Amino acid sequence: MFLVTGATGDIGRRVVRLLRQREESVRAFVRLTSRYGELEHRGADIFIGDLKYDKDIAQACQGVQYIISAHGSDNDALALDYRANIELINQAKAMGVQHFVFISVLGADRGYEDAPVFKAKRAVERYLAASGINYTILRPAGLASNLLPLAERFRETGLYFLIGDPKNRTSIVSTDDLARIAVDSVTVAGACNQIFSVGGPEILLREDIPQIFSRIFNQEPIVINLPLLAVDGLRSVLGIINPETQKALGTFRTLLSEEFFCRKEEIALLEQTFNLELETLESFLRRYLAV
Ligand SMILES: NC(=O)c1ccc[n+]([C@@H]2O[C@H](COP(=O)([O-])OP(=O)(O)OC[C@H]3O[C@@H](n4cnc5c(N)ncnc54)[C@H](OP(=O)(O)O)[C@@H]3O)[C@@H](O)[C@H]2O)c1
Repeated sequence: MFLVTGATGDIGRRVVRLLRQREESVRAFVRLTSRYGELEHRGADIFIGDLKYDKDIAQACQGVQYIISAHGSDNDALALDYRANIELINQAKAMGVQHFVFISVLGADRGYEDAPVFKAKRAVERYLAASGINYTILRPAGLASNLLPLAERFRETGLYFLIGDPKNRTSIVSTDDLARIAVDSVTVAGACNQIFSVGGPEILLREDIPQIFSRIFNQEPIVINLPLLAVDGLRSVLGIINPETQKALGTFRTLLSEEFFCRKEEIALLEQTFNLELETLESFLRRYLAV
């Protein structure tokens, strides 16, 4: 039995679909408010709980052999990115779980001080690696599925908002490839006790994205390039009203200001280890946008 957290998220949903396609038994950790009908329909065992409660985590881990941790922060990196994962690992150890797959983030090891999610992920990576449980840590670049709503807006308006340096490099990864890598991590021998940077097959500049949209929709892009100062200004204003949101925005700012791309050797290792050919961003978008 697999336990998947964040089962209604972009990655988790795809992980559950793939596991069910392979006729594996899956327990999907969802909140009562989550949109989990599709997962139930696919035959996943629905566990309703909240990852902020240790009791729920302990109950969800009963009888599972594999855990894929794919939940998000919901603006509370300490409770969800950090504590919930530490508790999942503790329970995994207590239950004798055979393999733990952790979705981290590219750059988790770069020591960004102002980015709570990155700090939490790195602390969890260390805890997992020292736990004695078989593990695979995946550090993805940006997900291709994040761009689907932006592509839909582009289709309607031709607009693309780009915040920060258009020349920053990125290795956006197909969310379907990432889900497959997460699932295969428990069986592929070369993935045991390893950390992988996970990106798409090409290093893109951020300014390439509106050009890809333009090719897909055959429409000239109107690119509005906002400086990072706009985010800094927003953070300062929010800081007066809500200091916690100001801190959470540190992660967002880091994502906008830094480069997140995988080196060619990292991509080659990924393709070789998992025996797959990674999909380009354009191919992913064309599949989902049916163009
Ligand atoms: N998106 C990216 O570009 C990216 C890049 C690198 C790494 N990652 C990492 O990948 C992981 C998944 O990202 P994603 O984009 O797939 O996430 P997502 O689409 O934002 O989904 C987040 C998931 O976490 C669940 N969740 C949030 N708070 C919860 C709580 N208190 N109890 C139980 N479940 C809770 C959500 O449930 P509901 O449906 O109820 O809201 C949802 O299923 C995250 O750890 C993220 O840091 C993401």
